[in-house]
Amino acid sequence: MRKKIVAGNWKMNMNLKEGLGFAASLVKYFNEKPSPGAEVIICTPFIHLAALPELLKNTELKSGAQNCASEASGAFTGEVSAAMIRSTGTQYVIIGHSERRTYYHENNALLNRKTRLALDNDLKVIFCCGEVKEEREAAIHHEVVKRQLEEGLFSLPAGELKNVVIAYEPVWAIGTGLTATPDQAQEMHSYIRSLTEEKYGKDIAAAMTILYGGSCKPSNAAEIFSKPDVDGGLIGGASLKLEDFAAIVEAV
Ligand code: PGA
Repeated sequence: MRKKIVAGNWKMNMNLKEGLGFAASLVKYFNEKPSPGAEVIICTPFIHLAALPELLKNTELKSGAQNCASEASGAFTGEVSAAMIRSTGTQYVIIGHSERRTYYHENNALLNRKTRLALDNDLKVIFCCGEVKEEREAAIHHEVVKRQLEEGLFSLPAGELKNVVIAYEPVWAIGTGLTATPDQAQEMHSYIRSLTEEKYGKDIAAAMTILYGGSCKPSNAAEIFSKPDVDGGLIGGASLKLEDFAAIVEAV
């Protein structure tokens, strides 16, 4: 059985007080509920990370960063290294989110370096892939995702894949209110699993957690998560509201 995961991606939202207050309300909510049977992660801005492990200790919630530097340390003004993130007790980092690829021009080679550094520093990686609208319309979405995985991820030795989660996020569905249909999600997830199998074999592919992301909300989560190759979600907008995030965790 592979691990189910719901990860919230707060993006650039919530100041220190708001974020820690919200995290405390999540702790209270989930502590009063039976175990969700899925791993629940909150990926917050850097400013929250140092305080979260203490706040989340004795709960099943985990914390994650949304990015890390592509260099180990040194004169890189404004950057935060994988080692620094790990030193806070944070367990996860998102790498290759489409907003990083688009607005900060992060390419597959750079993302491969970030992934390497994250794993070397004992962080688990949520590696994002997904095509833009024009690529889907041109029916090259499989090729695009294949290239992202081959160049960004598939240089890793097999033994490290257990510390990687793949998130398929069609860019046209992120923050737009447009969601991939459950069948579109399943089709791409199954393709990603088959690529993983070609490269690493059946067992690693079967154990790989593959998340769907892109306008996931309480009203569509259960149907998307019911697909056999969808193992949970990476949730943006809906992770900022307790009721919505809780309902999505419930759906998984
Ligand atoms: P969204 O974002 O749920 O707001 O569409 C998902 C993501 O960007 O991870």
